[in-house]
Parts: sequence; C-alpha cells; structure tokens
Amino acid sequence: MEQTAINPEFLMCPADYFEIRYEINAWMEGNTGRSRLSHAREQWRALHEQISRRATVRLMRPASGLPDLVFTANAGLVIGKKAVLGRFRYPERRPEEPLYRKWFEENGYEVFATPPDLYFEGAGDALTDRVEPRIWMGYGFRSVLEAADWVAQALGIETVPLRLVDQRFYHLDTCLLPLGDGSLMYYPGGFDERSRRRIEELVPESRRIEIDERDALDFACNAVQIDGMLVMHRCSPTLAGRLSSRGLRVIQTPLDQFILAGGSARCLCLRLDESAAQAGEKAPSELVRRTMTIEGHLFDNGILVRAMDLIAGGGGSFETLELRPGQRREDHSFARLAVSAPNAGVLEPILAQLLQLGARIDETTEKPARLAKVEIDGVSPDDFYCTTIHHTDVLVDGHWVPVTQQRMDGVIVVDRVGPRAAVSLIRDLRKGQEVVVGVDGLRVIARSKPAGERQTEEFAFMSSAVSSERRVELAVDAVAWEMVQIRKHGGRIVLVAGPVVVHTGGIPALCELARMGFISAVLSGNALATHDIELALYGTSLGVDYQSGLTVHGGHRHHLRAINMIRKCGSIADAVAQGVLKNGFMYELVKNDIPFCLAGSIRDDGPLPETMMDLVAAQGEYQRLLAGAEMVLMLSSMLHSIGVGNMTPGGVRLVCVDINPAVATKLADRGSLESRSIVTDVGLFLTMLLEKVKGMPE
Ligand code: ARG
Repeated sequence: MEQTAINPEFLMCPADYFEIRYEINAWMEGNTGRSRLSHAREQWRALHEQISRRATVRLMRPASGLPDLVFTANAGLVIGKKAVLGRFRYPERRPEEPLYRKWFEENGYEVFATPPDLYFEGAGDALTDRVEPRIWMGYGFRSVLEAADWVAQALGIETVPLRLVDQRFYHLDTCLLPLGDGSLMYYPGGFDERSRRRIEELVPESRRIEIDERDALDFACNAVQIDGMLVMHRCSPTLAGRLSSRGLRVIQTPLDQFILAGGSARCLCLRLDESAAQAGEKAPSELVRRTMTIEGHLFDNGILVRAMDLIAGGGGSFETLELRPGQRREDHSFARLAVSAPNAGVLEPILAQLLQLGARIDETTEKPARLAKVEIDGVSPDDFYCTTIHHTDVLVDGHWVPVTQQRMDGVIVVDRVGPRAAVSLIRDLRKGQEVVVGVDGLRVIARSKPAGERQTEEFAFMSSAVSSERRVELAVDAVAWEMVQIRKHGGRIVLVAGPVVVHTGGIPALCELARMGFISAVLSGNALATHDIELALYGTSLGVDYQSGLTVHGGHRHHLRAINMIRKCGSIADAVAQGVLKNGFMYELVKNDIPFCLAGSIRDDGPLPETMMDLVAAQGEYQRLLAGAEMVLMLSSMLHSIGVGNMTPGGVRLVCVDINPAVATKLADRGSLESRSIVTDVGLFLTMLLEKVKGMPE
C-alpha cells in the first residue's frame, strides 16, 4: 500500500489579490464585492501555516486582477514530473493559464498543454487515488467528459469519469476525497446514479465514507491530507469521530472567505508530489465516441434541445461539429454532433433515444442489426431495442428492411428469410424468434413539420383566454375537411369514445356520422355502449333525463336495467334483431355493419355480453380494427385514447377532443406527433362537426 510520500509538497499562491469580481459558480452568485481582503489573507496565512508545518510549500507570485489565482488546484494535474495543464471553461479565469504554465516550466515539469476546446480544470476535477493506479475525474459543470480521455492518454493512467449533477458541487474536489488508505470520502448527492454505482463497483463498502449534505456544504471533502492529518474548513463532530476511528485527525481552520468564491482548503493547495502511478492492466480510458447527424425542424420543434438534453441527462457529453440552420420557415436545419460517454453501457441508451428522435448515428447505421434469439415464449432477450411510433428500417444481411406493424413500446422481430421485420409485443414473442438488440443497423424516420404547422394545438387553446370558441370552430373545420377527404378515397376513420359522449348529448350527431359512412370502426369500453342503450331504452344517461336534464327518480338503476335487457336478448346485435333496441349509436353500428370492440375494465357494471374482459384479447382486437386507419377520432376517453395512441404508428392523424387539457397533453407526450387536440365539450364538438361535414362540397 502506498503511503503518503515522505515529503509532501504543495503549490500555493498568496491571497493578496483575492476578491469576488465575477460570478462563475453557484457559491459566487450574489457575492461580488462581499469578501474582506484582510480576513481572506489572514485565513490563507493560517492555512499556509498548518500545511507548511508538515509539508514543503512552494509559492507562486499572486497577480493583480486574477482573484482566483489563489485556487492553485485548478492549475493542472501533476503526477511525478508531468503536469497536465488546466484549461478553464470560463474566460474569467483563462488569463491564469500562462502564469501556471510558466511556473511548471520554470520548475522543470514536462508540460502537457490541454487543447483549447477541451475544458479541464486541473486537480479540481482530477483526483488521484492513493492506492489504485487510477484518477477520479469530474465532469458536468467545468471539465468536460472528453478530458478524461486526454488525461488518461497524457499520463497513461486509467481515469474514471464521474458526472457531477449538483451545481453547488461543481468541481470534483468539492464532493470527493481519496484518502491515503485507499478509502474514498464522498457526498453521494453530488453524483448521478451511474457514477454512484461506479464508485460502489470500484471501492468496497468498508472503504467508502459517505458524508451528509451538511458536511459536504462545509467543504469537508475539500480537505488536504498530510499523513494522519486532514486540514479542512469545518467538520461535524460525527464525521470527525468517524474519521478518527480510521486514524485520521481533523484540523479545522476557517476558510469562509474562500467559500464565498466556492473554494476551500484543497482548492488552495495543488499537490505536487503525487507519485507516478503504474499504468493498470485496463485500457487507460473507456470513453466512447460516436458522431450523429440530425436533420429537420430542429429549432422550431425543439428537437435539437431535446437531443442535447438527453445526451447530457444520460451521462454523456457532446460537441457540436456542424450546425446549419434552415434559412426559411419551411427549410430543414442540419446538425452534426460528436457524442461521448464514459463507456459503452452509458452510450447505448443515449443512442437509442437519439435514434428515436430521428438522428442517424454514423458508425452504427453501417453495422448490421444485432439479433438475439428468444429463449422463452413471451420473454425478450435483454437489451432489446424498444420501438417508437416512427417508421423504422433495419439492416439485415446487407438490406435495409422496412419494419411493419410499427407501434411504440414493442420489439422488432426479424425473419432472415425474406428478409422481413415486424414489431411484436414482448408477450407475443415465441421461442426461436430473433429480436433486434442494441442500436446497430437501425434507422428511424421521424418526420417533423415546422412548428406552426404542428397539429398539437392544446397549448394555444389553453393560453388564449379570448376567442377560443372561434378557434374551436376553426379546428373543427379542419377536422371536417380531412374527414371528407378520407371518406372520398375510401380511407378508414376509427372512433375512440367514452360515455361522456352520451352525457353531453353527442349521440344524435354521432349516429348521423355513422349513417353517413364516416366511421369505419369503434373502440370503446362497456360504459359508452351501456349508457347509449340506457338512453335508447329509457331516455336517460346515468339516470339523467336527456330532454329535461333532470335526475329521474330511481334513474340510477336504468343503466343496470339496460345491461340486463341486453343480457336477456343475448347480445346487442340480438337486441337489434329482436326489435328491442330500436335506436341509438350501438343500434346504428349494428345496422350499418360497423365493427366495434368494447374493452372491459375493473369498474364495469354488467358487463354487456360483447364487452371483452380479457384485456390481452381486447388489445389484439383494437389493433386489428386500427389497421390501416388514416385518422383516429378520440372523444373524451383518457384510457382508451392513450391505449390506442400506443398502438398507432406515426403518420396516422390523431384528433383528441376532451374538456380536460391534461388528456391532450398526455397524448402528445406519448410521442404521437400528429395529434391535434381540441379542448372543448365533446357534445358540442360533435354537433358542430356534423354541421361542418354536411356543409362541405362532396
Ligand atoms: N472561484 C473559483 C472558480 O469558480 C473557485 C475554484 C475552486 N477550486 C476548486 N478546485 N474547487 O473557479
């Protein structure tokens, strides 16, 4: 075990010009001009005394106008006689770089100049493990992920990138400290989930010292260790006790002036005597990099922002290599990004999501799709690629094969003879089938429209207090026109509806639309049919008189009587045949041979004989009736609408009508790009729609 070197050596820079002049981290915000130079100098002097009592301290000359030069930890990373120079993210600190460089050169270091576009903030974000040949590296706020590769190459030592996610812990040395016995003191909240797991993989539990937020905010991790002594700003008695049981004595020295600038003990001392650790057996860096291109309405539809967010949010990093904005509204924009991730396991989910946005990933699109065999009926191989609503092609034996039965949340089954590919639900998989895993050999065609032409209008409705009636009317106009067009060429319009259609008086209009041939199939539940039949038989819906709007005494039983009556007849169709059911929507469906599927639920009364209580079967029937639909009209049913949205491929027009804007929003969230949402009363909508289609020229 390597103990701390015999003669610890540090580089410090007196605080003569320290002040808060600018704000480049969360601690500095609002603190400009708030530090007191005399206090700062006194605190620095006290720290210097503590350190120089036990170690050699080399001094750098302070420079006026460079207030952060005191934080020598950011000068670079020193291992043996090699110094990898820091490269600052913010221009405020860049003038410090030549001064640090000069110091290293004059003191006989072999200097590695970090490329200008590769931010790397020295030992602030690169901490040498005291036992393993490994450098812990932070990224996310200051240094970039790619710096982990650069440092690994320069020094030939494995680097382990950890992603920082809390802006108060913006440098790695604010929330992690490798100790002399190989243990690691850290604040878990400073890291993303993957990085926390990485730490747990590499450091056994007995060597992990997790600290709480309080101590972390007191910069307890930002301590300088010299043998059995830890110099820091402040430490809770509990933590001091835990450290002392490991043979470490905490020495506290106030550094609040520097904390105003976001730094503490360790930031003020750059360690110069890190020994040249041996290169491990592992590759020095597992960093992976791919280039991707994306084209379309990147800016107005926010696609680029989403792509960038999901790269960063997934633990990766990107560099924009090329960006060509469209010159006019209809024009496409083009972007090429280099995407990096700490390792392949982090990269793959990021790439999968980028693909789903319609991005092309250069290296992966050239490779054939990876296939894995189904071993157990109804169970997919792990790492399956999860489908979206967008058209997808898959590269099999050198051919791009279009995937059929496109829908979201499925997997792609490939049949090499043909070759053919189709989406399947996991539960439908059969042993021996081959499923696409990973992201190789896939291309997704996600078409996008200019923002103004997107059909997701719910926000417009919600935000405009005035003239919303006029806007509803215009939206209905557009729907009516499209319906007439679809009917003209014999296309299919599928209706999804909930019982609110009955309660709000939409039935007469709906019946007429059915008679006019606008409805090809109906997907609903037990309730719509029940209340429609209740209305046909007893003139009420849920016991409310349709004409007067008043609750009928004892009317609540009506819907049960309706169900009972149909059960007596055998089925809805039998009730029509027997002359029991003589009008209403279900009657029209039977009379006009329009297929319907009623999918059951836990809250169903009855149910009606037609209601399918086997939901797997009902989903299958929904899917069958949806095949080839050009438009789906979704009328006030959250559950059925979202269910249908999940089964529908991109390109099918979804029209969602609901008085509750949340339904519209949910549907749009499911990635159904072509959805048009109309926030209004569904009964009024249907009446207006009927009027409009009647007014359209044939
Ligand atoms: N004000 C300085 C900055 O934001 C503080 C640097 C602290 N250094 C460190 N190694 N954490 O850059």
